[in-house]
Amino acid sequence: MKAAEIRQTFLKFFESKGHTIVASSPVVPGDDPTLLFTNAGMNQFKDVFLGFDKRPYTRATTAQKCIRAGGKHNDLENVGYTARHHTFFEMLGNFSFGDYFKRDAIKYAWELLTEHFKLPASKLWVTVYAEDDEAYDIWHKDVGVPAERIVRIGDNKGARYASDNFWMMGDTGPCGPCTEIFYDHGEGIPGGPPGSPDEDGDRYIEIWNNVFMQFNRDEAGVMHKLPKPSVDTGMGLERIAAVLQGVHSNYEIDLFVALLAAAKRAVDAAGAGDCDKESPSLKVIADHIRACAFTVADGVIPGNEGRGYVLRRIARRGIRHGYKLGARKPFFFSLVRELVNQMGEAYPELRQHETRITEVLKQEEERFFQTIAHGMEILEGALAGGTKQLDGELAFKLHDTYGFPLDLTADVCRERGVTVDSAGFDAAMTRQREQARAAGKFKMAAGLEYSGAPTTFHGYDHLTHEGAKVTAVYVDGSPVSAARAGDDAVIVLDHTPFYAESGGQVGDTGELRNNTSRFMVEDTQKIQADVFGHHGRVVEGEIKVGDTLNARVDGEQRAKTVRNHSATHLMHKALREVLGAHVQQKGSLVNAERTRFDFAHNAPMTEEQIRKVEALVNAEILSNADTQARVMPIEEAQKLGAMMLFGEKYGDEVRVLDIGSSRELCGGTHVARTGDIGLFKIVAEGGVAAGVRRVEAVTGENALAYLQGLESTVNQLAGTLKATAAEVPNRVAQVLDQVRALEKELAAVKGKLASAQGDELLSQAVDVKGIRVLAATLDGADAKTLRETMDKLKDKLKTAAIVLAAVDGGKVQLAAGVTSDSTAKVKAGELVNFVAQQVGGKGGGKPDLAMAGGTDASKLLQALASVQAWVAERV
Ligand code: ALA
Repeated sequence: MKAAEIRQTFLKFFESKGHTIVASSPVVPGDDPTLLFTNAGMNQFKDVFLGFDKRPYTRATTAQKCIRAGGKHNDLENVGYTARHHTFFEMLGNFSFGDYFKRDAIKYAWELLTEHFKLPASKLWVTVYAEDDEAYDIWHKDVGVPAERIVRIGDNKGARYASDNFWMMGDTGPCGPCTEIFYDHGEGIPGGPPGSPDEDGDRYIEIWNNVFMQFNRDEAGVMHKLPKPSVDTGMGLERIAAVLQGVHSNYEIDLFVALLAAAKRAVDAAGAGDCDKESPSLKVIADHIRACAFTVADGVIPGNEGRGYVLRRIARRGIRHGYKLGARKPFFFSLVRELVNQMGEAYPELRQHETRITEVLKQEEERFFQTIAHGMEILEGALAGGTKQLDGELAFKLHDTYGFPLDLTADVCRERGVTVDSAGFDAAMTRQREQARAAGKFKMAAGLEYSGAPTTFHGYDHLTHEGAKVTAVYVDGSPVSAARAGDDAVIVLDHTPFYAESGGQVGDTGELRNNTSRFMVEDTQKIQADVFGHHGRVVEGEIKVGDTLNARVDGEQRAKTVRNHSATHLMHKALREVLGAHVQQKGSLVNAERTRFDFAHNAPMTEEQIRKVEALVNAEILSNADTQARVMPIEEAQKLGAMMLFGEKYGDEVRVLDIGSSRELCGGTHVARTGDIGLFKIVAEGGVAAGVRRVEAVTGENALAYLQGLESTVNQLAGTLKATAAEVPNRVAQVLDQVRALEKELAAVKGKLASAQGDELLSQAVDVKGIRVLAATLDGADAKTLRETMDKLKDKLKTAAIVLAAVDGGKVQLAAGVTSDSTAKVKAGELVNFVAQQVGGKGGGKPDLAMAGGTDASKLLQALASVQAWVAERV
C-alpha cells in the first residue's frame, strides 16, 4: 500500500464511522502564540476540546502536517539516528468532541488495523495509563488482547509527555491519559517491548496514540476538567507505511525512496562524486528538506529568532550533512522539485509556492556556504586534539561568527563521541548580550536604579497633563536631585501624556513647565516597562525631584506620527491581501515623517502590486470608519482573530485595535477615524535582507508635499523641454534617441578627421638610421582614435617609432607605437614613459603599443621634439 492509499484508507474508514474529513491546518498555527509549530492533529481543535469553539460536527478525521523541531515536542536530535523520527511528518487522526469515548476509540483503532490494514493481532502490543483500568479492561476483555501484551505505564510526575502515557500538547492546554499501540518488527531488530529497559530500540515501534482528553492544564499545573470527555488520536503516516510496506525503517517507504535518490544525485553533483547511498546523512537531508519546504510554504523565512530560527537550524543541519558527504556548493534547495513530485498532489501549497520555496532556501544555502568551510575547519581543528568536551566559547564563536547553530555543532561532535559545554555556550551568549546592552543604553542604566512609582500614561486621550510630579531626575546617567538650565537630563513623572517609544512608534516630543522652569522634551523612552523617561534639556530655571509640572505634547508631531502609525496597520493588512498571508511584520518604525515597514516576502513588489496596496489603503481612508480600541484577555483577542506577532511578549490583557478592516494588537496611539489619515502614498520599496522587503510610505500633508514635489519636478522638466507635462516621457525618449544618433555621427566624423590628419602626418616622419620616427599631436582625438591612427601609421610607415598626443582640457593623452621589426631596440613602453615624464605623468605598456597620460600640456611640444634624439641613441 502506497502512503497515499494509506492516507485515503484512514480518512475513508473514519468517514464511514460518521467523521467529517477536515483539511490539515498550516504548520504555522494561526492564532496560538503558545505554540511554535503545529505538532499534532489536535492543535486546530484545541478550542473545541476546551469548549471555547463549536463546530458543525462532533467527529472529525484529518491527515495533519506536523513539525516537531522546537518547543515541547522536539525530535530534531533523533533524526539520522533512529529509523522512526522526523522533523516533519504526517499525523493521521480521529477526534471526538464530547461524542464517543474510550470504548469506541479503541474498537475503531483495532478494526482499522486488523481488518482493513490486515495486521496480524499477534504483532500488536498496547500500553495503557497505569491507573486506567477501564482502558485495560476494554483491551483485554472486549478486544481480546492477551494480558502479556498489555503494558501499564505510569506517569513520571512532573515530566509528563507522550512516552509516559499521559499526553499534553504543551505546558498548558488540553491533556489526558492515553493508550498506545505498538508494532513488533520482529526478532532481527534490537529493542525491547514498551516499559522494558531497552524500549528505545527500533523493534517495538509505537504506531498509534489514542488520547482520552479529559483536562485543561493551566500555568500553575492545575488540571481542570474539560466540559466533555473527548478523544484525540495520532498515527504517524510514515510509521504505519513502513509496517504495511514490509520495511523496517520509515526511510524505506515509497515517500522517501525517490527523495533519497534525488538527495544523492544533488550531493554527488555538488562535489561528492559518488557518496554512499546508505549514508544516514542522506536520510537527514531527505527529512530536513520536507520540514524546510513545508515551513516556508506556510510563510516562515529563515531568521535569527522564533520560527525563522528553527527553520534556519533545520536547513543548516541538512546542508552540513551534505557538506559532510562532500558537497561544496548549494544542493539542498534543488530537492524541492522532487518533493513537489512526491507530495504536491496531497499538499497543493507545495506546488503553488514551489518557486518561492526554492528561492528562499537557495538564498539561505548560499549564505551558509560562505562560512561553512571556514567554520568546519575551526571545528575539526578543535576536535582533532581528542577532547571529550568541546569548549563552550568555541561553540559560541562558531554560532556568532560562522552561523553554526548550537545543535549543528552538537551533531558534528556527537558523531565523534564528543559533548558540547552548553553551559559555557550560554554564558558566552549572555555576556555578549550584556555587553551590547551596556554599550547601547543609558536608558537601561537609569532604569535599573529607579525604584519610584510607575508612570501613568494619559496620552491615548489627552495631549496635556497638569500637575505631574517629578519622581526622578538623571543627568549624565546618574540620579540627581535637580537639573539646571543648560543641563541635558532625563525626567521621570508620575503621570504623563507623552507616549514612550514602543511597537515601532517613536516617543513624543514637547514641553514640561511650571511658573519658574521649562524643559524641552526631545524624546520619550521607557526606562523600565512602565516608567517613562522624558529626555531633553532644561531651558529655564531648574527641575527638582518633587516639583510639579504641566506637560504638553507637541500636537503636530504627534498627529503626524499617529497618521503614519494607523496607516501602517492598514498597509500591513493590504500587503497580506495583495501578496499573500506569508507577509509577516519583521520590523517597523513610525515617526512624524514616514512609516517604514519590513516584512517577509521574497521578491520585489511590482508596480501593479504597489498601486493595489495604495488603492486598498486609500479606500479604507475614504470609508472614514471609527477606530476602536479595546482592552481584553488575550484569549478573547485570539478568538476575535486579532493579528499578533510571534515572538512578541503579550501580557494577559491586550489592547485590540480596529482601524478600518484591520485588527491588530497594539499599544500605540492612533487616529480617531481612518479619514484623519488624509492620503496614503508609498514612496520606496526595496530589499533589506534575504527574504525581507521594506516599504516606506507617507501620509497626510507629507503625502501632499511628496506629490507636489514630484509635480514640480515634472513641470520643470516640461519647461526645459518646451512640452506639456503629459508629453515629457515621449520628449525625453526622443531627446535620448537624438543624443545617441549624434554620438554615432560624431564618432564617425572624428574617425575620418583622424585618418585625414594621419595621412598628413606621414610626410612629417623623419628617417633615423633606417627607422621612421614621428612625434605629433592629433587634434580632438580620444584614446580610441589615438590607437586606431597609430595602427594605420604603423602599417603605412612599415618600420617606425611613433608618438601621438592629444590634449583635452589641459590633460595630455599619449600613445607610443613601435613596429614589430624594431621592438628589439626601441620599446614603446619606455618611449611613452620618456615623453610622459616630461609632461608631468608617467606610463608604460607593451613593446609595440603603450599609453600614458600627463597633466602639463605646456611642455608637450618640447617633449615631442625630444623623441627623435631619444630614438637615435638606441638604434
Ligand atoms: N495528540 C496525540 C499525539 O500527538 C495523539 O500523540
